Amino acid sequence: MKSIEIRKTFLDFFASKQHQIVDSAPMVVKDDPTLMFTNAGMNQFKDIFLGNMPRKYARVADTQKCLRVSGKHNDLDEVGFDTYHHTMFEMLGNWSFGDYFKEEAIAWAWELLTEVYKIDKNILYVTIFGGDEKDKMPKDEEAYNFWKKWIAEDRILLGSKKDNFWEMGDTGPCGPCSEIHIDLRSEEEKKKISGKELVNKDHPQVVEVWNLVFMQFNRMANGSLVELPAKHVDTGMGFERLCMALQGKQSNYDTDVFQPLIQHLSQLSGIKYGAEKMSDVAMRVIADHVRAVSFAIADGQLPSNNKAGYVIRRILRRAVRYGYTFLNFKEPFMHLLVPVLTEQMKGTFKEIASQQDLVRKVMMEEEATFLRTLETGIRLLDQQIQKAKAENKTEISGQDCFVLYDTYGFPIDLTELILRENNMTLNHAEFETELAAQKDRSRKDAAVDTDDWVIVKEGELTKFLGYDQLEAEVEILRYRKVKAKNKEQYQLVFSQTPFYAESGGQVGDTGYIETKSGEKIPITYTKKENLLSIHLADKLPQNPAETFKAVVDQKSRQATACNHTATHLLHYALRQVLGTHVEQKGSLVNDRNLRFDFSHFQKVSLEELVKVERMVNAMIRQNIGKTENREMNIEDARKLGAMALFGEKYGDKVRVMQFGDSVELCGGTHVNATGDIGFFKILSEGAVASGIRRIEAVTAENAEEFVYSFQRMAHEMRELFGGSGELMQAVTKVVEHNEKMNKQLAEMMAERVTEIQKRLVEDAIETGDYALIEIHAELMPEIIKDVAFGLRKELKNVVFIATGVNNNKPYIHLLLGDDVVAKGLNASAIIRESAKEIGGSGGGQPFYATAGGSNENGIANAMNKIKEMLQIKV
Ligand code: SER
Repeated sequence: MKSIEIRKTFLDFFASKQHQIVDSAPMVVKDDPTLMFTNAGMNQFKDIFLGNMPRKYARVADTQKCLRVSGKHNDLDEVGFDTYHHTMFEMLGNWSFGDYFKEEAIAWAWELLTEVYKIDKNILYVTIFGGDEKDKMPKDEEAYNFWKKWIAEDRILLGSKKDNFWEMGDTGPCGPCSEIHIDLRSEEEKKKISGKELVNKDHPQVVEVWNLVFMQFNRMANGSLVELPAKHVDTGMGFERLCMALQGKQSNYDTDVFQPLIQHLSQLSGIKYGAEKMSDVAMRVIADHVRAVSFAIADGQLPSNNKAGYVIRRILRRAVRYGYTFLNFKEPFMHLLVPVLTEQMKGTFKEIASQQDLVRKVMMEEEATFLRTLETGIRLLDQQIQKAKAENKTEISGQDCFVLYDTYGFPIDLTELILRENNMTLNHAEFETELAAQKDRSRKDAAVDTDDWVIVKEGELTKFLGYDQLEAEVEILRYRKVKAKNKEQYQLVFSQTPFYAESGGQVGDTGYIETKSGEKIPITYTKKENLLSIHLADKLPQNPAETFKAVVDQKSRQATACNHTATHLLHYALRQVLGTHVEQKGSLVNDRNLRFDFSHFQKVSLEELVKVERMVNAMIRQNIGKTENREMNIEDARKLGAMALFGEKYGDKVRVMQFGDSVELCGGTHVNATGDIGFFKILSEGAVASGIRRIEAVTAENAEEFVYSFQRMAHEMRELFGGSGELMQAVTKVVEHNEKMNKQLAEMMAERVTEIQKRLVEDAIETGDYALIEIHAELMPEIIKDVAFGLRKELKNVVFIATGVNNNKPYIHLLLGDDVVAKGLNASAIIRESAKEIGGSGGGQPFYATAGGSNENGIANAMNKIKEMLQIKV
């Protein structure tokens, strides 16, 4: 069976069992502080498990893009070295939300594997939860009994909490689980040792394929378990492992999921897969990582220097570094695999196909940057090695290697490899100390202490009223305390709210809640966590159970609305002016300005920007009214021309925001008519990454303010340039004057040089072998150089040494005449030695070299050293 059929068979099977087939959620998680990337199929249903949100369907199935590279589930270090772990993988899953439970989950899993996929029952084992004393949990008898119906009892194994109690993270929904393992070894191997002994023992051919989790509990911040309101099923089957089993392979990488990538890599590198251990590892690493990085970029997460972006950057760098070292790629190569991946995935995940160009461009640029870093790192390391060799050492300090690692992103294992090649080692203890200190620093920076929710009242959570009103009567349903960096805050969840919670690029609302007694407690921000609206406050009202008046800061909300609607108009105008390849790649809207990132492959010209700006302002003057539909079918919305963004999660019903021809799916708050915006002004246009441009703009009062400040600047400039009348005229006058002065200065300098030169030749000391000229003066380096080159023409045996202080820094220049150089003397080598005396460095050519330093007092010694070195040689 081809992988495409395997995937389809799974979905068809569960559809036949009345499951609704849903799309994969984006791989990059937006509104969950406990999670950066989707690490399991159940993430998108977390709120349903917790009872925060009602279920839409009782039974659901899908294939979910997962990435396990951070947090509780992190497989990154194994990837490539073994044959069955991945960073990005697909998880096939079926769910029951308060519907069927263990019996059906077990029966259907068995039916699918053994009757539909026709896997031999004799190569399957199952595990069940064996109980845990600390959590006071008994063995999962129920699951045991249901399994007994299908599989011999000696194939049902008891597992520990580590393997058979599934948790998403430190807190959240969890429960006992039952895993299905498959033994893919040869008959001969099986005779030697029973598969039973190898379950959960990291054997590459005895692997877990499917995990059936019976969600029953919520793990609280204090570690205790609380029963969930209803019981659920969450199953996850590793798609790539299933393909290995069904395609009769010994490794995930031998399946048709990875082989096209590996074959292409083999072609590009000229190295066969299977030729050698480390080149095989490298190919597996790259074939795996190119998937993770491509899907992350397609989901809107560009590689960057922090958080999720940094994780993606590190994955990419890991791949490049393996390619560089073991496959001899010295130029960007990974992006060449993107078309192969697109071809494979386009039927299942359309985000990859439609953004192929962008993914390639971003990847290529990242690769190129990192390859340059590698070259720099290798050069720096080489300097360390030379230095150590000169000092007869065989060990490089851990601190130096840490700087390479931390500042230049140079991988430590590459450092070790290079050192080994030079018969050197690195001081591991020192390196580890530095690393631990850094980890400690960042942990302290990021540490957040979150208490469990205190439930004030039961009730359906947070109805959003803020599209229609900015004030409302609200009740606090639950609250909790959060401590980060010694700052305490309260998070409040209301029954209903006029406050908009940050999402879709629009910042959250601020305002206050007012108690019955008239006390106002500021709401400092509103954000989303999964689907909950969370209001932040520095203190808790004395009686959280009373009713409050919640009031949104109207001025800030209106300014934000202007910027949000303007963003839609900008998006529309960009597609009109530049073309429909323009797609939103990021957006930030607050009460001061708007920032819009979009795909476009070159700089937007000034004329184009003006066109866009004019178009937006024309739409503002037309005062187009808002047409809002809060509950449109997604298909109808698409027909209307609304564009869905990749990396966003949409339901079947969407909110459609229309201003004339601009139609967008959007949950944000907007002006009633475009005229409210008043005026739109672009402030800047630039690149954010390869293929992605950013426009920053202002509207309304902020745009007006910008024009005034521009006017003020023009006025001040005119004053500064001493002109009355036109600014341009005044500036032109100063520029012309400047040019004249420069010419005069150049003439004067030339005269000065000739003069100095003449005097120096007269004062030269004949030492027998050469004419020695020394000067010590505060001169511009250009003048010294001109003088030196003049002397070179005049005296073949000149030795010219100029020292002095320029800009508070000591300098030395050394010129050797042609006859002196012919004797084998080298100005560059001499200056490098003498530079040490002034605490600096230097270099140049054999006839002329310069040095700069920091210690003025060393000049005399430096001079002596130069003379000494010359005399030794003469
Ligand atoms: N959540 C479980 C897992 O990730 C089953 O889907 O293994």
